[in-house]
Amino acid sequence: MNNPCLIKMEEISKNFAGVIALEKANLNVKQGEIHALVGENGAGKSTLMKILVGAEEKDTGNIYINGSEVNFKNPLDARAAKIAIIYQELSLVPNLNVSENIFLGNEPGDNKKKIKVNHKLCRKLAKERLAQIGADIDPGIIVEKLSTAQQQIVEIARALESNADIIVMDEATSTLSSKETNKLFEIINKLKEEGKTIIYISHMLEEVMKLADRVTVFRNGGNVTTKKISEVHVYDIVKIMLGSNYEEFENMETRKRKDISKSEKILLKVEGLSRKGHFEDISFELHQGEILGIVGLVGSGKTEIARSLFGIDLDSIGKITVRDQLVKINSPKEAIKLGIGLVPEDRRRQGSFLTRPIIENLTISSLDLLNHWGGVLKKQKSLDRSTAIASELNVKMSDFNQLLGLLSGGNQQKVVIGKWIIRDDQKILILDEPTRGIDVGSKALIYKIIRSLADKNLGIIILGSEIPEICRLCDKVVVLCKGKINAYFTGEEIKEENVLPYVLMK
Ligand SMILES: Nc1ncnc2c1ncn2[C@@H]1O[C@H](COP(=O)(O)OP(=O)(O)OP(=O)(O)O)[C@@H](O)[C@H]1O
Ligand SMILES: [Mg+2]
Repeated sequence: MNNPCLIKMEEISKNFAGVIALEKANLNVKQGEIHALVGENGAGKSTLMKILVGAEEKDTGNIYINGSEVNFKNPLDARAAKIAIIYQELSLVPNLNVSENIFLGNEPGDNKKKIKVNHKLCRKLAKERLAQIGADIDPGIIVEKLSTAQQQIVEIARALESNADIIVMDEATSTLSSKETNKLFEIINKLKEEGKTIIYISHMLEEVMKLADRVTVFRNGGNVTTKKISEVHVYDIVKIMLGSNYEEFENMETRKRKDISKSEKILLKVEGLSRKGHFEDISFELHQGEILGIVGLVGSGKTEIARSLFGIDLDSIGKITVRDQLVKINSPKEAIKLGIGLVPEDRRRQGSFLTRPIIENLTISSLDLLNHWGGVLKKQKSLDRSTAIASELNVKMSDFNQLLGLLSGGNQQKVVIGKWIIRDDQKILILDEPTRGIDVGSKALIYKIIRSLADKNLGIIILGSEIPEICRLCDKVVVLCKGKINAYFTGEEIKEENVLPYVLMK
């Protein structure tokens, strides 16, 4: 593509109270291309895009669009200049409905009748917009009632509605199912045909290979290189991304699948578990030391099963047996007492306190273990454990007192996972989409940790929609489709080509 340069970001630097987010980063995006940005968690990708649209102020550097210098004061300015952004952390207004969010600040009015905002028209247009991206979401529903995936779709619809020429997508597919992702790819390709320019940030390198024309790799706040996709292999990208950490990534041993013999103790037995409108007749056993995968598309009921097992939703029927004891789990507190931990899917809303320091987020679910009699926190123990976990997970931060919300998206995820790993009295750990938004190097670290927990005889349940990941990691796989179990796989039967058809069809 010999198109002219549309966006030029030159020597952009940004410091956040001592944390260097960007150091002389450069980016050149051509008119009409799909340009991918990749790099480890905390490399500076989101910050660079926030600076482009005026959501953050740069310390130094220059930005040119079509050869003229720009300096947007805020994202509304950028929107007026036809640049839209889909943020990594969803930015919808939770107590407004879907159509109000899609048209926020851009509402179609009705001048003839002197009506300021024509709500009926908004809803009609919103429905059309959503249908275009293949989504069946009621435009009148309040956003906070939607799942994370649905919110992401609304966010995409909002960006498309602005009719922008440049669209920045920061991890736009991280919560989407493969079907929805494919639909989004169709749309992105259509936008490209219309001459629009897309900047696409993703940790899903396969997506990047499929979609992008060129890729810029970031490391430690700077761009390392820009390449044409047709001229690189995915491993080249990983190598550039990880730098000296690549060797460790490559050497990550592949664990032999465990053949859990009947003699192995059953930790959790679920029989005929149903919740009206969500899932039906779910039965499985989880043995000590076993990694069980529950795989299914977004909306197949995985998260809802986890919520029932963790005592969040209380209206399910059926039998749950934890270590030979028939139980009724009425609250997360009771679940924790039974030795069950949950890393939730929606970590920003349910799993973390963004305005509290990292150390508090890491230790919040293990205060009972870290406290002295009388409730005084064992400060040193809590710091020692936190330090160990943060380094195991390679969390990029300046210190433990930094507020969680100031970490990069992927590093926030790692802290929420860490908060459950820090407990050493757990028997059963449920992880809902554990590697969403996490870079390839850190994914490998998380796999390693999950395996070492299983080797310490924990039973692990992984809920996921990424079939290759589930197949690589699990000893047993349950396939869920529209709330029902469609198939079970064990041992050597666990292969992507075997599992995939059961994920898709009923
Ligand atoms: N408002 C802020 N205050 C302090 N530090 C910040 C702030 N925003 C970002 N940072 C820091 O800047 C660095 C770059 O973060 P950024 O979010 O740009 O990374 P990223 O490449 O998007 O990572 P990820 O893949 O995890 O989303 C990180 O170390 C992050 O902690
Ligand atoms: Mg980011």
